[in-house]
Amino acid sequence: MAPDYEQFKKDILQLTGIDLNAYKERQMRRRISTLCTKYGFSDYHAFYQDLKVNPEHREQFMNYLTINVSEFYRNPMQWQILESKVLPELLQGRKSLKIWSAACSTGDEPYTLIMILKELFPQVQVKLRATDLDDKVLALAKEGCYPAKSLLNLPKNYVTKYFKKLPDGKYQLSREIMEAVEFQQHNLLADAYDSQYDLIVCRNVLIYFTEEAKLEVFKRFHRSLRPDGYLFIGSTEQILQARTIHFEPQYSFFYKKISI
Ligand SMILES: C[S@@+](CC[C@H](N)C(=O)[O-])C[C@H]1O[C@@H](n2cnc3c(N)ncnc32)[C@H](O)[C@@H]1O
Repeated sequence: MAPDYEQFKKDILQLTGIDLNAYKERQMRRRISTLCTKYGFSDYHAFYQDLKVNPEHREQFMNYLTINVSEFYRNPMQWQILESKVLPELLQGRKSLKIWSAACSTGDEPYTLIMILKELFPQVQVKLRATDLDDKVLALAKEGCYPAKSLLNLPKNYVTKYFKKLPDGKYQLSREIMEAVEFQQHNLLADAYDSQYDLIVCRNVLIYFTEEAKLEVFKRFHRSLRPDGYLFIGSTEQILQARTIHFEPQYSFFYKKISI
């Protein structure tokens, strides 16, 4: 494929607001080239011209780029640490929690959080904001209808209590859980971050970012947390030299904000 990728990145930033420079280049180029070839284009320029005028291709491009895989209670052992260690600690002397589920995809993660809190800490008042770059996944999250495979790791009592099986085999989440989450579109690499969060959950997206972009996001998460607040990251992720950016690795995949 012709070496016009630099221009393609600029064009895509203008067209979609996505800065491909912040994503790991080899991985992104491979994904983009696959799609470009699939549509029958031999260079990035022709592909971009198509994306400009073809909303269907543009949508597929966005979906393909953002890798939306998610599931309820993904990596159960990490959720168990949240339940038994992190939440009790965050709730010491408090009756409310402000939480941000960043890059939440189809909502599996924020809804998991709400179910856990309802079951284990029913007296706590929760404000949960869930965001993603991709408005298509947010629309699915608001529908709250999931294939059975999304629920495989979720404790069975949660499935029975909070889902209704539909005739087509999918599972509809209850209103009670859906109404507890506020969904918003948000680009971690471009938009403003809110503050005073007790807990930020951001899993399985930073792996796609360059080291520089990742570091910048971690620093911004630090500013967004309240003192002693927690950042919960994905199972293949870690913060290198966490203490230099004032995070204390507390449990696997949980970092506590050290106040400066
Ligand atoms: C693999 S999913 C992770 C979903 C969920 N956090 C989990 O671990 O199951 C990655 C999500 O990151 C989102 N994403 C990619 N780039 C983003 C960005 N710059 N800002 C916000 N979300 C982004 C994608 O749209 C996608 O929904």
